[in-house]
Amino acid sequence: MQIIKRDIVVVGGGGAGLRAAIAANAADPGLTVALISKVVPMRSHTVAAEGGSAGVIRADDSIENHFDDTVSGGDWLCDQEAVQYFVEHCAEEMIQLEHWGCPWSRLEDGSINARFFGGMKVQRTWFAADKTGFHLQHTLFQTSLKYPGIQRYDEFFVADLIVDDGRVRGVLAIEIATGTLYLFECKAVILCTGGAARLYSQNTNAGIVTGEGMGMAYRQGVPLRDMEFVQYHPTALLGTGILITEGCRGEGAILTNRHGYRYLQDYGLGPPDPWPRTKAMELGPRDLLSQAFWHEEQKGNTIDTPRGNAVHLDLRHLGAHKIHERLPLITEVVKTFVGIDPVTQPIPVRPAVHHTMGGITTNRFTETCLPGLYAAGECASVGIHGANRLGSNSLSELLVFGRVAGERAAAYARSAGEGHADAVRRKAEAAAAPLLALLNGAGGAGGERVATLRDALGETMEAGIGIFRRAEGMRATCDTLTELRARYRAGIRLGDRSRTFNTEWLSAIELGYMLEVAEALAHSAYQRQESRGAHVRLDEYATRDDARYLRHSLASYGGDGPPTITYSPVAITRSPPETRHYGGAGRQAVLT
Ligand code: FUM
Repeated sequence: MQIIKRDIVVVGGGGAGLRAAIAANAADPGLTVALISKVVPMRSHTVAAEGGSAGVIRADDSIENHFDDTVSGGDWLCDQEAVQYFVEHCAEEMIQLEHWGCPWSRLEDGSINARFFGGMKVQRTWFAADKTGFHLQHTLFQTSLKYPGIQRYDEFFVADLIVDDGRVRGVLAIEIATGTLYLFECKAVILCTGGAARLYSQNTNAGIVTGEGMGMAYRQGVPLRDMEFVQYHPTALLGTGILITEGCRGEGAILTNRHGYRYLQDYGLGPPDPWPRTKAMELGPRDLLSQAFWHEEQKGNTIDTPRGNAVHLDLRHLGAHKIHERLPLITEVVKTFVGIDPVTQPIPVRPAVHHTMGGITTNRFTETCLPGLYAAGECASVGIHGANRLGSNSLSELLVFGRVAGERAAAYARSAGEGHADAVRRKAEAAAAPLLALLNGAGGAGGERVATLRDALGETMEAGIGIFRRAEGMRATCDTLTELRARYRAGIRLGDRSRTFNTEWLSAIELGYMLEVAEALAHSAYQRQESRGAHVRLDEYATRDDARYLRHSLASYGGDGPPTITYSPVAITRSPPETRHYGGAGRQAVLT
């Protein structure tokens, strides 16, 4: 095993990881930072973010508005201290990005343009056409190159955390090109590994978004919080899962069913005023829009196609000029993948899993309960999204809390003592043993293929823990996951036993974590006997129950058995729970 010593290890090279690495090295240029990524720099999933990043910028907006939209959007399960910090710091992070070269889209007078986004009552979403994540990632990557203390390890797969003496002391990684094992010894680790949407078969996420960062923290005793809240994005391109940005609706696109009817008016989101709308309609929050699709499907109002049922996202009235200026990426994607020109034809879309609201439990300073371990971005639950994240709050989140994580980890690393090198190395060898056994064929000839179990995982998650849930369906998914974990433990058969770019080996390791994270999610869902945000039940628990469940769920690792689910309080400072209202929400701004 190769050994590398650094002060801080950042796991994940997307927006949160880059922002954290920059902040750590800026806080103390004397600290060494290893930035480890499964992929090469511009392949992190952040580049797939399209529509934008929220932050108060316009005169008709306020920090209070952003706070209120976020907390009501999250169905009051947000930690309000964390939300307050977040909304106060979004714009300054994006101005910082501007200074680093991010090409934000602008108005005629040169000021920042901001578009409407779902669940936000005013234009608050900064954008760079519909390639915001790409430009954000590019800006952060270029900026990180100016920091000599940051050393990149691209195409290294982090397989485990190394914990000794009650503190995180390093990570075990595999160099993908050679299969060589590396121990990165360090004082602090920041997990920025993204979400876990790949637990589901229908999703908008890159193939790398498999949730193992969550799984690593979970195995080490850090609870996963609010995992039952899984966001379906209402407009994924039919048959592909590719994200068709909410920016389309932010620019005025409409959703219609097979009768050409704007069905959202039937779900408390209307009436359908002319643009700019005074009612939410297509700019309602994602949970409600995805649920409306489901109802339309049940009523037979969706469009039946060989690739499944869809509704139409219609941009035609926006005109070619606006579509090409504001939405060039989706125009190209839709032409390439389904042969449709959105200037002349509506786009067939349906909901697909997009984001995990929950994740590694941290406080609002990104600290976990394991000393030396921090988490930021989608893998973390810092408490701002509650039961339903608002679109465009996640790019701002990874900037704001990526920075916080870098600064906090730097402060910790400056004062933390060295670990016991021998003990840390022994722990790393022990962590490597099961990985090598997997590679060397411990599953034997009768072992199962990774793909078989992955497919079964995706299907059971869709079946039991989808847009709408029932006790029996969730119970069945919990049982299936128990069985899949047992089959995984009984042995996996790899077709490739080499060490060179052995992605099957890596997928097998990922799968072990995915099954455990899925179990945390499914059990958290099963035990939440109410409906809130993205967790909506069709059985006797169809309404919100603040008396029993205005609480975060915490899933704690149960080894080979199921997780234990406990609950913790929600921090409420100034916004007590109310009913969510979108049908009458005033949009005060006019479209520019
Ligand atoms: O629709 C979108 O562009 C997605 C944005 C987000 O998830 O924040």
